[in-house]
Amino acid sequence: MALLSCATNKTGTVSMPNSIATITTIDDLRKTVCAWRSAGEKITLVPTMGALHDGHLSLVKLAGKTGDRTVVTIFVNPAQFAPHEDFDSYPREHEKDLELLAALDVDLVFMPPRVEVYKQDFSTHVTVEGLSEGLCGASRPHFFGGVATVVAKLLNQCRPDVAIFGEKDYQQLLVIRRMARDLDMNVEILGGPIIRETDGLAMSSRNAYLTSVEREKAPLLHQTISAIAKALANGKPLDPALKDGCKSLGNSGFDVDYLEVRNADTLALIEGPVHEPARVFVAAMLGKTRLIDNVAVTDAEK
Ligand code: PAF
Repeated sequence: MALLSCATNKTGTVSMPNSIATITTIDDLRKTVCAWRSAGEKITLVPTMGALHDGHLSLVKLAGKTGDRTVVTIFVNPAQFAPHEDFDSYPREHEKDLELLAALDVDLVFMPPRVEVYKQDFSTHVTVEGLSEGLCGASRPHFFGGVATVVAKLLNQCRPDVAIFGEKDYQQLLVIRRMARDLDMNVEILGGPIIRETDGLAMSSRNAYLTSVEREKAPLLHQTISAIAKALANGKPLDPALKDGCKSLGNSGFDVDYLEVRNADTLALIEGPVHEPARVFVAAMLGKTRLIDNVAVTDAEK
């Protein structure tokens, strides 16, 4: 276990402020969490791909409230990127990430190298049917298989009591929850609320790709789905609400992938009258950046 600086933590590891314990092997992860489990401690896992922002940090803070031990993983998972996507350019800011985590109540950071996660002849893949198929699954068919596979592995490696994922990736949260249920994984999958910039843009590591002009336009995504949710909550019919939203995004330079209203529990497409629990989902390209967001129809009423 490496200590980037010294900090006293609950394991009894010698430490000083601004330090954090990091490990890179599954073996070390298992040994550490096994000792905690034997001591009757509740373990919470927060899987990330790094390039941490306040959205991630809010999940880590939530983890601190749900359990005795918080494990954060940082692994840019190649299996969830198609060859034409941004795996190579995905921001990797490990030093900064560790500094941010050191300021929080994190017990361990697991940062495995690629070969630790995917052996050369790796040949097992997890597919979650149904939930993975619409929305982002339609335009990124490789994505949820890659996510489900790596999260299944992380859950097996750490065997946490609770694992936390952000609601910005709402479909991902439901896919993972279903996978955990279907595969009898003894873990509670919790969602953390979307954290937004002051102008409403949902925080995302990919926001770093936006040019300054795009960054100015980006909040329109949230404004649009919030306006749709509000209109629907006030009884506006679905079709014109979605058409107006698409038009306004298109006029501002967004290339809309989908703008849909779905049941928040099943992700069934809602085409007629909108009944709770419903959410408005959007994905759109702004220049070279793919942005996603979602909002509950009831939220807009408040
Ligand atoms: O949401 C993410 O950052 C990733 O999809 C996850 C869940 C860490 C799996 O690689």
